[in-house]
This record gives sequence, C-alpha cells and structure tokens, in this order.
Amino acid sequence: MMCPSNILPTTAFLLFPATMVTRTIDLRSDTVTKPTEAMRLAMAKAEVDDDVLIHDPTAKHLETEMARITGKEAALFVPSGTMGNLISVLVHCDIRGSEVILGNNSHIHVYENGGISTIGGVHPRPVKNNDDGTIDIDLLHAAIRNPNFEICYPKTRLICLENSHANSGGRCLSVEYTDQVGELAKEHGLKLHIDGARIFNASVALNVPVDRLVQAADSVSVCLSKGLGAPVGSVIVGTKSFIAKARILRKTLGGGMRQVGILCAAGLVALQENVEKLEIDHKNAKTLAEGLNKIKGLSVDIAYVETNIVYFNILKGSHMTALKLGKIMDEHGILLMVDSPSRVRIVIHHQVSASDVHYTLACIKQAMTGVAEENGSN
Ligand SMILES: *Cc1c(COP(=O)(O)O)cnc(C)c1O
Ligand SMILES: *[C@@H]1O[C@H](CO)[C@@H](O)[C@H](O)[C@H]1NC(C)=O
Ligand SMILES: *[C@@H]1O[C@H](CO)[C@@H](O)[C@H](O)[C@H]1NC(C)=O
Repeated sequence: MMCPSNILPTTAFLLFPATMVTRTIDLRSDTVTKPTEAMRLAMAKAEVDDDVLIHDPTAKHLETEMARITGKEAALFVPSGTMGNLISVLVHCDIRGSEVILGNNSHIHVYENGGISTIGGVHPRPVKNNDDGTIDIDLLHAAIRNPNFEICYPKTRLICLENSHANSGGRCLSVEYTDQVGELAKEHGLKLHIDGARIFNASVALNVPVDRLVQAADSVSVCLSKGLGAPVGSVIVGTKSFIAKARILRKTLGGGMRQVGILCAAGLVALQENVEKLEIDHKNAKTLAEGLNKIKGLSVDIAYVETNIVYFNILKGSHMTALKLGKIMDEHGILLMVDSPSRVRIVIHHQVSASDVHYTLACIKQAMTGVAEENGSN
C-alpha cells in the first residue's frame, strides 16, 4: 500500500506507519544526486570524439569553461576528485624525495588511500587542521624543511589546502587566508594546490568569485559530482604546462577516456544550472541546523554551518545513539550518515527541498522526544 501522493510528507508521517512511507530523502552526502532531465538530455545529444587524442569537443568546452571560471590557463576533466588530487600532487612533486604539507584532517590525507605516497612516492607532512579547516600559518612555516639539511630531509615542494573543508563541516577558507598561504608558498619556492571539491560552495557562501578565491593557487581540483550534481567527474585547473603533464599522468593512471563528452555534457549543465542553487542548499542547511538545535538531546554548532554540511551531536545522557537514530530515520526513508556513536552528518543538495528539511526535522524530533510536530509541514 502506498501513501497518497498528494499528502505532504510530514502529514504522511503522522498518519501512516513508517513502513508505508515510500519517499526517500537522501542526506548522506551531496554525491548522491541523480542527473536531472536537462543533464540526461545534454548527455544524449553531446557531440563527442576521442578525448585521449584531444578531439572531444564537449570535453574541450567544459575544460575551457572551468579554466575561465577559475581564472587559470587550462583545465582537464578527470574521473574523480581523488584522481584530480593525486595527479595534481604528483605533477607538483615529480622529483623523488618530495614532501607535501597538508592538513591532518584533509581529504587527501584521510580518505584517499594514501595514494600520494603509495602510488606517487610523495612524502606527506601532516600539520594540525583547526576546527575551521585552516592550518595556522606559523605551523605551515615551521613544517617547511630547511633546504640546508637535504642530506637528511625530504624536500618540501607543495602545500595543500581544502576549501570548503569537508571534515570541518564544510567551513570555508577566506580569500585573505588563502592569499597568506600563497605568499608563504611563494617566499619558499613552493606550489599551492587547493582541493576545491566544493569550491563553488565556498564561493557562494563567502560571496567571492571562484577565480579570486583560488588566485593564489597553482592548481585546483573541482568536483562536478558533489553539490553541482553531475553524475561523474572532476576538473583540475592550472597553467598550460601543468595541464600538459597532468594529461600524461591521467593516461598513466588509466583515467584517459575516449568519448568522454557524454560525461562532460552533464558537467556543463551542472555549471549552468546548479551553481545558483547552492545558496538555497546553504539556506536549507541552516534551517535544518537551527531546527535540530531546538530538539531536546541534540546540539549543533550553528556557527559551523557555513555551507551545505551539518554535523549534529547527540548529548550525553540521551537514550538515543547515532546508530539507533540512523536506523529509525531509515524506516522513514531518510538516509543519514552516522559519523560516530554520538555524531551524525547531514549534507544538503539540490534534490533536497525545504519541505524535505521540515519532514526530516519532524521525524528526528519524534524519534528523540516521542512527540510529533503539530504543524511541521509547509
Ligand atoms: C569528495 C571529495 C574528494 C574526492 O572526490 P571523489 O570524486 O569522491 O574521489 C576530494 N576532496 C574532498 C574535500 C571531497 O569532499
Ligand atoms: C590533528 O593533529 C592534532 C594535534 O596533534 C590532533 O589533536 C588531532 O586529533 C589530529 N586530527 C586528526 C584528524 O588526526
Ligand atoms: C554545495 O553546493 C551545492 C550546490 O548548491 C549544494 O547542493 C551542496 O549542498 C553544497 N555543499 C556544501 C558542502 O556546501
């Protein structure tokens, strides 16, 4: 038996047992979006050719567009953000014995299988990330190896930043901070790479154009398949010579694809349609965070919610655990990511509506307090 489709989600939740709820609200990540009709149409009609031979017009179009938006000379479509970061680090550190300074809570250091060392032979020098995703400038400075001791030390060649910073709840690095790190890098002859998986989110949240935000960077990796909503792919940007080397490495890693314009077509639609939707996502995330904070037994650091990621904590002494809450929400068709026994992650994307947010809040409130929202739907 199905819920009548004209019933608003919150009402449906109140009137029907959880098992009858057929709607799914996927809040696990902004990677879960499905391609829109416009994307599927563009993919079907995409003009394509062999991109390993650099002949695919749609890939070229996307790369030109991303280079323009980020203010860099050239760009390259890659299968994933992980490969984009790996290629970027390896191009900057193409001499054996290179070391990269990066945040100890950064995606590259924590979630990319240590590829920069296992595949690239690059030595990581992790430095403490602050709660806001920054790394103190003096710590960065102190981590740069003294070139006079090269008989013992690896050679520092690169600094990596991440904007927005995923593990810090999507917090943004300011243009001032990024410029300062760029200055430090320049003074010491180092390169600066930005893992900009969600750089568009940071740009929208800070109201700073992407090209200005990454002006100090020698390379940036941008995900199309996160908040921008494309099904596959990332783009890396940098100088022409950086991209020429990156293209060769991409082939080495098995990331040279043939009629890839099919995928790039969706990426172009993502850039055209979804950048402006990020602001709505950020607003929905804020509404969700404020609502969660009002529920007894939960806490959210609202100031941390700058973009589309919301981490919330289940307070000590509560009867609820994150795992249990995740299971109950599952039954209501709401998918969350359990981060620890007392911490849950929610990521808003363009396929989560304001009404989905209200429904989610009503369900979480009922699970936490046993009391249903009286009028949660609108
Ligand atoms: C998702 C993500 C990546 C990697 O992207 P994949 O396409 O999943 O490989 C890199 N950095 C950050 C900050 C991310 O959030
Ligand atoms: C990063 O380093 C700091 C300082 O040593 C430490 O407190 C923190 O737990 C580390 N974070 C991660 C994710 O390793
Ligand atoms: C980033 O922006 C996209 C597009 O609006 C949005 O869907 C997503 O929720 C945002 N993510 C973060 C982490 O800010």
